[in-house]
Amino acid sequence: MTKRHIAIADLKISQKAKKYVLQTLNDNRLSYGSFTEKFEKEFARLHNRKYAIVTNSGTSALQVAIHALKEAYSWEDGDEVIVPALTFIASSNAVLHNNLKPVFVDVEEKYYCIDPLKIEEKISPKTKAIMPVHLFGQSAEMQKIMKIARKYNLKVIEDSCEAMFVNYLDQPVGSFGDIAVFSTYVAHIIVTGVGGIVTTNDEQLAVMMKSLMFHGRDNIYLKIEDDDTNNRIRLNSLIERRFQFEHIGYSFRLTEMEGALGLAELENKNSIIKKRQKVGKSLTNALSRYSHFFQLPQIRKNAEHCYMLYPIVILDKRIEKEEFLLFLEEHGVETRLFMPLLSQPIYKKVFGDISLKFPVAKMLEDRGFIIGSHPYLVQDDIKYVQDLFGIFLKNAKLLEK
Ligand SMILES: Cc1ncc(COP(=O)(O)O)c(C=O)c1O
Repeated sequence: MTKRHIAIADLKISQKAKKYVLQTLNDNRLSYGSFTEKFEKEFARLHNRKYAIVTNSGTSALQVAIHALKEAYSWEDGDEVIVPALTFIASSNAVLHNNLKPVFVDVEEKYYCIDPLKIEEKISPKTKAIMPVHLFGQSAEMQKIMKIARKYNLKVIEDSCEAMFVNYLDQPVGSFGDIAVFSTYVAHIIVTGVGGIVTTNDEQLAVMMKSLMFHGRDNIYLKIEDDDTNNRIRLNSLIERRFQFEHIGYSFRLTEMEGALGLAELENKNSIIKKRQKVGKSLTNALSRYSHFFQLPQIRKNAEHCYMLYPIVILDKRIEKEEFLLFLEEHGVETRLFMPLLSQPIYKKVFGDISLKFPVAKMLEDRGFIIGSHPYLVQDDIKYVQDLFGIFLKNAKLLEK
């Protein structure tokens, strides 16, 4: 069998994206400009949201989202935000960076998102928000989560960094909560290299987030064209206000080149999602013959999956995870761990060894792993992965030769 390379992610920059980026360079335009503005407007429209603001990462988008909510609703240091016990570390780090306390809730055994049945028992008088994470490309159980949030008057921040343009109950991920956050980092759905987007329908929050990512600046001055005014009254207030700061903000802007990449990717989103779904479904078809050994991605009722990644859980205790991952890696299949959170050295230091309190997350950390399901995998790649699984199981004498 010829060795193939099955990467976690792959990237092919389209002609259109190259053209748009070149245009920004030819126009000598690197700061916020028309590509970024169009990208934001279109992204907001596609999510039925009034506002979308791009930032230089999903993490910085999370940071301004939580900061804005904290400031707008006068949350105090030490107030609590409910987060899943299994996610990429940036989700709960953003809570910590805002001097709030992440309160972990175990996840669903089948879909890996926060378990809505375990949220209420974690709500205290200090709880201010819930942060569901649409992990690996599929929506969390938003209907139940929104119901709990309404009952306890909590804000909802959707961490949609791993899912984009997939529906749950005919509604796109990132359009349920008060604020949603997306990432356009290289391995994600729409790719700009680095980048993030935050969306909301709330004007006050939008204005504050836009300011926060721009050093906390007065929003009268957003882009260089704001200087081009013949209106004396506006010019007068611009002179006064364009260097005024209203919040303790951050420098979270990105360049117009990423805005150009983002717009080109957005114009191609249907094809990206379709290809990912085709690859995800093909992997499931190919590996389903081994489904008594492995739990493959399952799709929630009334939901879609965009397979940002392809999560697999080893069910059969006779399979040593380390041995299996080594075998896959040696044969060119890149793997990643299953978004371990509570076992991270820094979290053990901060929170102690609490992972046993979250048995599902712990089991998934112990027995789960990820392979790629990016749009450039072809049928021969999928067959190769299928064959490797078969060879391993036969070598381990778990399958007949
Ligand atoms: C669930 C989740 N949240 C947040 C982030 C942070 O996004 P970024 O890498 O763009 O900062 C990621 C990134 O991979 C993620 O997977």
